[in-house]
Amino acid sequence: MTETWLVEPSGPLRGDITVRGSKNAVTKHMVAAMLGDGPSVIRNAPDVGDVEITKAMLESVGFGVTRDDDELTIEPGAEVRPKVPEAFTGLNRIPILMLGPLLHLAGEAFVPLVGGDPIGRRPVDFHVDALQAMGAEITYGPAGLTAKASKLHGARVTLPYPSVGATETVLLSAVLAEGTTVLRNAATEPEVVELALFLQRMGAHIELSPDRRMVIEGVPSLKAASTRLAGDRLEAFSYLVAGLITGGEVRVHGCPQDRLVTAITTLARMGARFDITDEWITASAPDGLKPAAVHTDTHPGFMTDWQQPLMVLFTQADGMSVLHETVFENRLVYVPALQKMGCEIEVFKNCLGGPACRFHDGNSGHSAVIRGGSKLHGAEVTLPDVRAGFSAVLAAAVADRPSTLHGVHHIERGYHRPFEQFASLGLHLQRA
Ligand code: EPU
Repeated sequence: MTETWLVEPSGPLRGDITVRGSKNAVTKHMVAAMLGDGPSVIRNAPDVGDVEITKAMLESVGFGVTRDDDELTIEPGAEVRPKVPEAFTGLNRIPILMLGPLLHLAGEAFVPLVGGDPIGRRPVDFHVDALQAMGAEITYGPAGLTAKASKLHGARVTLPYPSVGATETVLLSAVLAEGTTVLRNAATEPEVVELALFLQRMGAHIELSPDRRMVIEGVPSLKAASTRLAGDRLEAFSYLVAGLITGGEVRVHGCPQDRLVTAITTLARMGARFDITDEWITASAPDGLKPAAVHTDTHPGFMTDWQQPLMVLFTQADGMSVLHETVFENRLVYVPALQKMGCEIEVFKNCLGGPACRFHDGNSGHSAVIRGGSKLHGAEVTLPDVRAGFSAVLAAAVADRPSTLHGVHHIERGYHRPFEQFASLGLHLQRA
């Protein structure tokens, strides 16, 4: 498949979009399904590159994965081969999540170094520390991690930061461990809770307590289960912004309102008008948009994956906005691509527009001041990552002439059929 799109400015984008389950939920459910005693089924699965990568990883260790449109079936094979091949190095974050399940199934495991988007240091120390506390012996090698554990046991684990992935590692490892695990400072993102609910359906004993505490009592075995994923809140937000930035209106179906509370309030404060029903959410801005100061945060704050579309929207607001990224220290690395398209964004190492964050004394530019009302230009741009990639399409949609966007596989890794979705909203784009 070609990796370049030609995007023409096309006026207001309008229409209906249905979002499927999120890449960050479906892939974790696929790993959870490894622990069941038979075929598990995940419905409303998106057609994204990360599912294909994860499917190939599961197959490589001995599982059967079949896909029928939006339905994935994961079936245990006759034998588990607990070594994820090095060919999967750097493709996404999923190998580290497979460590716990592979230890349960085989007593040993190897996983290659994880990748994902180039958005700053993405260490796996929380995952490793938690697994070691549960009895795993882990060694770092040049190609990846090797782990051994005849049986994982329950432990008390406190995460230094409420990491989504590390919380998922603890869930996926503690459910079959001997004894009780108490996890403190756990992430509570909807995708994490969705995973916990799926594991509960498989027979896990998981208590979600107040104050970011999770208590997991290990059980001897888990059964197969089926589930339907809720709609992706990142995609929902991204397409609502696509409507707003072009002066159009996109009606997004399939994402529950409670996953978008902070996003809706942020856009509403900027002047967007919302209509919300049980089936869909739509936003328009007939009177234009005001600037805002926003900082990203853990759930239920403004999520870090929403900031890239917001950044482009800020360039079309009526005044100066501030964005402070507090989750990933280098998540503004995509700004040069937007600057090339005429976005007037200045990046600072200081914490602007709110309280100081963990990165206040570091060297990473993680705050930005964005001038509204910029005229954007068509340009030839290479997309650095999935969310930034989507933002570049938004910038191209309101630019003064066509743009050439290379590296669209990044968008396709995380968004369900984005070419077709954008085309259905009236964006003029073609594959080159
Ligand atoms: N962290 C550590 N050590 C660890 C784990 C995390 O220091 O062992 C730090 C990270 O460096 C970061 C912070 O903790 O500063 C939060 O990272 P987290 O573990 O929560 O992120 P993740 O699990 O790697 C997932 C999503 C991201 C999303 C974040 C935050 C997946 C595959 N990825 O990443 O999604 O931004 O949670 O919600 O679920 C995306 O979809 O574009 C994307 C990057």
